[in-house]
Amino acid sequence: MPDQVQHDKYKNTFMNYLSQQNPTDFSGKHIIVRVDFNVPLEDGVVSESEAFRIHAVVPTVQFLKNAGAKIILLSHIGRSGDSLQPVADYLEKNLPELGVVFSPDGAINGDCVLLENVRKNPGEESNDSTYAHELAGLGDYFVNDAFAVSHRAHASVVGIAGLLPSYAGFLLESEIKNLDQALQPESPSVLIMAGIKFETKLPLIEKLLPVYDTVILGGGLLNTYLKSFGLNIGKSVIDSSADLSTITGSPKLVIPEKVIIEREGLVQIVTTSQVQENDIIVDVVIDDNMKELLGSAKTVVWNGPLGWYEKGYTQSTIDIVTNLGAQTHSIVGGGDTVTVIRKEHLEDKISFLSTGGGAMLEYLQNGTLVGIDALK
Ligand code: 3PG
Repeated sequence: MPDQVQHDKYKNTFMNYLSQQNPTDFSGKHIIVRVDFNVPLEDGVVSESEAFRIHAVVPTVQFLKNAGAKIILLSHIGRSGDSLQPVADYLEKNLPELGVVFSPDGAINGDCVLLENVRKNPGEESNDSTYAHELAGLGDYFVNDAFAVSHRAHASVVGIAGLLPSYAGFLLESEIKNLDQALQPESPSVLIMAGIKFETKLPLIEKLLPVYDTVILGGGLLNTYLKSFGLNIGKSVIDSSADLSTITGSPKLVIPEKVIIEREGLVQIVTTSQVQENDIIVDVVIDDNMKELLGSAKTVVWNGPLGWYEKGYTQSTIDIVTNLGAQTHSIVGGGDTVTVIRKEHLEDKISFLSTGGGAMLEYLQNGTLVGIDALK
């Protein structure tokens, strides 16, 4: 068994990182690697712009391949027992060098095998011990490289880690390192929170408000905030259950002064006080003050799209990314936000794109995740 190196490189974690191991220790061994290939499909096919999570595990798979290990990839896709066949097709076409063989029947019929969606077994989500033992029986070691699902106490994430010597893969390590930086941002720092639901984001804003110099709101969060001041937001999306009293009036909050609206089929820019009954706010205007804050920031952490990107309102995203300073360490997460950035081909301008949506928010909230704790 490889040395159990414990190190305190990162404040919150004491566990074994794959990157710290001697590759020769894995030669000829069966390594079960939990990945998150839960990607959206378009007409049953994985598109290049949605394949970010698939490419993100390549360093771990390559490390193990080079070490001469036999790799068993576990993943889920969707919530209702979909097949990983489209992912297998994508891997074969776009990453042939990995040599991934799809095994819907569970046979270990190659040196790098992708098993069928673990959520097809009801024991996965209930973290059933029998199922965890069944999975663990396939290998000698377990590697978690599935940050995006590490907030789920499922058999292939948590149960299995208690049964085999376990490691954090390269992706998981890099998520932990970057998100720990997001929890202790270098000043001047900007937090951008957008999207729709305050339910998960409000507690995080409350937690990070004392730590960040500036917090910019956008998307449905902004609409909800504006409405709480009695401003008309027309027919824009809001989270009506949110109680914003804990953050209202904070001098650190930077609220866009102008928004982009759809009014009677036309797109217009108006001030937030000019929105009318039938208008829909579809994006925000990133003004000069915000551009200056972004340009001089040492840390920018961002979760949630500011505009209605599904309808093509991505100008705020473009303006944020293109106004980041050369010295800015930018950390961006949330599936939708990353999708917009990739569709606009802006990913090279971001220091770190997190593969996590809910997992990123929960890590920032709690400083760890159940799947990470299970590795310690
Ligand atoms: C995600 O996409 O956030 C992860 O794959 C987790 O998926 P889930 O929300 O279906 O558990």
